[in-house]
Amino acid sequence: MPNGLILGIESSCDETSAAVVRNGREVLSNVVASQLIHSNYGGVVPELASREHLRAIVPVVREAMQRAGVAYSDLDAVAVTEGPGLAGALLVGITFAKALAFGADLPLIAVNHLEGHIHAVLMDTATTFAGASPLLALVVSGGHTHLYLATRTPQNTGIPGGRSLPAGVETWHYRNIGKTLDDAAGEAFDKVAKLLGLPYPGGPWMDALAPHGDPKAVPFTFAQIKTKATGHTAPKLSRENLDHADPTRFDLSFSGIKTAVRRYVELYAMHPAILQREAALHAANLIHAKPSNPATLQQALTHFDPQTLNLIASFQAAVTHYLTRTTLLAAEHYGARGLLVSGGVAANSELRRRITSEAARRHLPVAFPTIALSTDNAAMIAAAAHPKLLSRNFAPDTLEPTPQLRLG
Ligand code: KG4
Ligand code: ZN
Repeated sequence: MPNGLILGIESSCDETSAAVVRNGREVLSNVVASQLIHSNYGGVVPELASREHLRAIVPVVREAMQRAGVAYSDLDAVAVTEGPGLAGALLVGITFAKALAFGADLPLIAVNHLEGHIHAVLMDTATTFAGASPLLALVVSGGHTHLYLATRTPQNTGIPGGRSLPAGVETWHYRNIGKTLDDAAGEAFDKVAKLLGLPYPGGPWMDALAPHGDPKAVPFTFAQIKTKATGHTAPKLSRENLDHADPTRFDLSFSGIKTAVRRYVELYAMHPAILQREAALHAANLIHAKPSNPATLQQALTHFDPQTLNLIASFQAAVTHYLTRTTLLAAEHYGARGLLVSGGVAANSELRRRITSEAARRHLPVAFPTIALSTDNAAMIAAAAHPKLLSRNFAPDTLEPTPQLRLG
């Protein structure tokens, strides 16, 4: 089955998605229904997420099949996100995928969402890395901020579990070498955005607004990005200052800078303006609008003062600098031969710019997913499932969600 055709289903958080992918690379369709309802609450409400998945799953899968122009009988497998994610949200995708696999007599493949994010890059970049290994993968989203050392499993040596793979198929082994000790980076973007009266999710808004402020205006230092691991504050980010008890770890922390923003807002009594902005964006019907649309951004900008824009620009500069430095220090420590960055925050233009330029200085190949594949989607799930299809690594009939599923 070298051209395996997989229907992928993703429902781990607030996107209901289905995609048909051929051969782990060729995306025939990738339908994503984002749940706008959470904007009304300033964050994902798990109970509502499950209900929205239940409502969307059938139309989304039907549309993915129609756009791909394939029938269920053409498929080789159904792949679904097993975790990590919200239990009730995962349950909808898994239950649907199990029923579909049972009804159409297809094998079911369970995929780790984090491996999916990594495959969102790998499916597009076979040539960027030209067989290089190990790679350093930064998975940075609203729920996760992880650093993995990804090593290619040599062909014909088999994979864990004793199954051997057909020639030409590569699998990956992951080792976690760093993670956030508190908030995920996307969560920090979203919380700071909420604090400043921006719509949810705040990351794309912060990204769109940051170029309109001065990134040097508020001197966030790494003294404010305090690592819980040591309790010490780091005036400058260097290997020494990153040093925790274990020098092989590259853990991160975002709670310090979030608190620093809150203190700044209090110090400059910005609350009344924030409340006004929140009401104005609501009245102008901008809370469901996309800031990537220039007209939306122009309209929104009329509700921002220079001090707030400077704060946004400075926050984004500090966070993207921190992520970039930590990633590159880890890459150096582990002798990584390339970098890949994935997850919702990989859509951030400043993070892309910084990592691209730092990697170029070190002659390291670097790859990001397309913007569409950065945030949660099912194409990445179908892509990650492909080696499992070839090695017949199928899920049991009793598959259940694993909300805390780990990778590596
Ligand atoms: O991967 P994703 O869709 O879902 C999770 O698995 O969490 O990531 C969503 C996260 C949200 O926190 C969102 O604010 C953030 O990614 N995000 C961004 C940008 N686009 C999405 N953060 C910063 N800049 C962006 N351009
Ligand atoms: Zn994700």
